[in-house]
Amino acid sequence: MAQTVRAVKGTRVFWPRDSAVWTEVEAVCRRVFSAYGFGEIRTPVLEHTELFVRSVGENSDIVGKEMFSFNDRKGRALSLRPEGTAPVVRAFVDAGLANSALPARLYYLGPFFRYERPQKGRYRQFHQIGAEILGDPGPLVDAELIAMLMRFFGELGHRNLEVLINTVGDAASRENYRKALLKYLRPRTAELSEDSQRRLETNPLRILDSKAPGDTEILAAAPQLIDHLSDESRDHFDRVVAALDTLEIPAIRSPRLVRGLDYYTRTVFEIVSGDLGALDAIVGGGRYDDLMQELGGAALPSIGFAIGQDRLIETLPAEFAARIPEGPRRMVLAIGEAAAMPALKLAESIREAGSAVVLEGPRRGLRKSLKYAHRLGIAEVLMLGDDELATGIVTSRDLDSGEQKSLVIAELLASLEETQ
Ligand code: HAM
Repeated sequence: MAQTVRAVKGTRVFWPRDSAVWTEVEAVCRRVFSAYGFGEIRTPVLEHTELFVRSVGENSDIVGKEMFSFNDRKGRALSLRPEGTAPVVRAFVDAGLANSALPARLYYLGPFFRYERPQKGRYRQFHQIGAEILGDPGPLVDAELIAMLMRFFGELGHRNLEVLINTVGDAASRENYRKALLKYLRPRTAELSEDSQRRLETNPLRILDSKAPGDTEILAAAPQLIDHLSDESRDHFDRVVAALDTLEIPAIRSPRLVRGLDYYTRTVFEIVSGDLGALDAIVGGGRYDDLMQELGGAALPSIGFAIGQDRLIETLPAEFAARIPEGPRRMVLAIGEAAAMPALKLAESIREAGSAVVLEGPRRGLRKSLKYAHRLGIAEVLMLGDDELATGIVTSRDLDSGEQKSLVIAELLASLEETQ
């Protein structure tokens, strides 16, 4: 026997039952996001590697070790997109939209790729639902975006969520803080974890995110970013917090929340689920006021978030499944070759009348066909045989009770049309 071909590590297939859940989540997303004025953008899965180097950052884990990068046939360095913000900003700059109606409110859904160690809630092909507001300095929209997220989660029946919020200040505040942090950490270098020692040189703010026990102890007494903010950055953050209070959205201030992507300025936030464990966020987001300019565009302050759709779906409440529309509950079954074409026609007429139906030909006999109907969850089988053909009726069989009755085809179709 020939060898089988396995799936690529960290990738998954979604069968119809799974896809039905994904589609329903996406339908809720589209409804909620459009109520906030967002329109959908679809950007390419492939981008020039340089885009992510210049935005997410050369020293970030994502660019440093997690991208699926390769040279194309002409030697151009390309990557499968590991995130959606840089591509959206790139597309916006490319299309010269700086003078369009601003702010632009855009959302996206789709696959993203990171070469991470696969485990529950972490895949190499994963899926994000993201939204970006381009060209609004906030702070009102910062809170509005979080409100939209909470409304979306609320409509899904999602509970047990916590919003964590922080500010990473503007570039100058961050530079001040970086100096203070380095001054504090340098004498303690030897006590830091290996990862943090490396970050000391490349990206010291990321050390704040470390979960290593030794590091947490050292960090407990470290200087805090909040004490190094410019007045403007502090005022922005206070106003975001006040707006969240107005909306009665509880948000936990998390002074050590720094995100793993370099483009953030001012507001950053995450939403974590009690069901996933503290390590894994369902949502990550924040403001990136300098990114568009850094990518060669206008100086348009912007903000956004991305939901990890895989994690969102893994933590959906059980009741959610009850909302998923079921497949057809009715089958047309041809008994005997003579009934094959009339059954094909009847099934089409039923669909024409607006009802869903599965067609089963005469190929494998009554017993096997009824077994198949059971396995599909069919409730009613409309059987068409020689007798029925002669009289213009079908025999309807209730699969639960086994009861049968005769229906005049014309009347059946009329009643289906009426219930539409
Ligand atoms: P991120 O925090 O890197 O942010 O990713 C957002 C979410 O994507 C994470 O919270 C997580 O739920 C999900 N995610 C990330 N990697 C994986 C993975 N390997 N498997 C499963 N889920 C994963 C961003 O990507 C930013 N672009 C968000 C943003 C938009 N900031 C501003 N606008």
